Amino acid sequence: MTAQLIDGNALARQIRADVSGRTAALKARGIQPTLAIVLVGDDPASQVYVKHKVNDSSETGLVANLERHPVEMAEADLLARIHALNEDPAVHGILVQLPLPRHMDSHKVIEAISPAKDVDGFHVASAGALMVGQPGFWPCTPHGCMKMLESIGYSLRGKHAVVIGRSNIVGKPMAMMLLAQNATVTICHSATADLGAMTRQADVIVAAVGKANLLTADMVKPGAVVIDVGMNRTAEGKLCGDVDFAGVKEVAGWITPVPGGVGPMTRAMLLVNTLEAAERSAA
Ligand code: GUN
Repeated sequence: MTAQLIDGNALARQIRADVSGRTAALKARGIQPTLAIVLVGDDPASQVYVKHKVNDSSETGLVANLERHPVEMAEADLLARIHALNEDPAVHGILVQLPLPRHMDSHKVIEAISPAKDVDGFHVASAGALMVGQPGFWPCTPHGCMKMLESIGYSLRGKHAVVIGRSNIVGKPMAMMLLAQNATVTICHSATADLGAMTRQADVIVAAVGKANLLTADMVKPGAVVIDVGMNRTAEGKLCGDVDFAGVKEVAGWITPVPGGVGPMTRAMLLVNTLEAAERSAA
């Protein structure tokens, strides 16, 4: 069997078009959806990520205000900036780019963001809202994975989903989102004994560990949906996910590629969250 591809680029394009339309409607009511992006230091990967976020925003009519701070910025000064952004009615979403410099406590910084503006969905209040099924902001990567499942009309009810990875921003929220759709969910991780015995039972596998070739064809039930959140580099410097794509695509029913899968969806969902923050503030 050759799996059907879930094209993250094409789906993200559709989502951006929808965001553009809804942004135009808000602007017609005099509201300019605005994202504040806070970058501390000069981490090269972070510089690239924030550039993408600024470009994605301006393409869809959102305003992204990028503020850069020196690496030696005091934590208290960053907290004061966040408090000012919390109080600014013209700012709907706040994103503090991670990682922060080592002298800062990332948890404390994230907790300073108002949950109403937490478009990354990293605040404890956002995680708690997801856990108990209340409105809040969902982290962008697992939210993007759910949109990918929705795009193929996949019903999760009664299905077995195996999530590999237990991070606070992907694995754990992913499990909650799948559970809310009435899937049976198993969370595995790097210490799981006989991972294949778990994944072979799965109708849906989400791989989010950060290890190339973690999931191979022999670990996948024929016809399963395979979502690859991994972002790794091969020895030759080529981008690859956690899934042995060439092998697994011969067994799976659906599969997401890397690049062009979950990555663009993560970026698109940040726009959706920012727009929703603006819409909620206007409601
Ligand atoms: N660093 C890498 N990915 C992310 C992300 O999604 N949000 C933030 N704030 N920082 C990141």
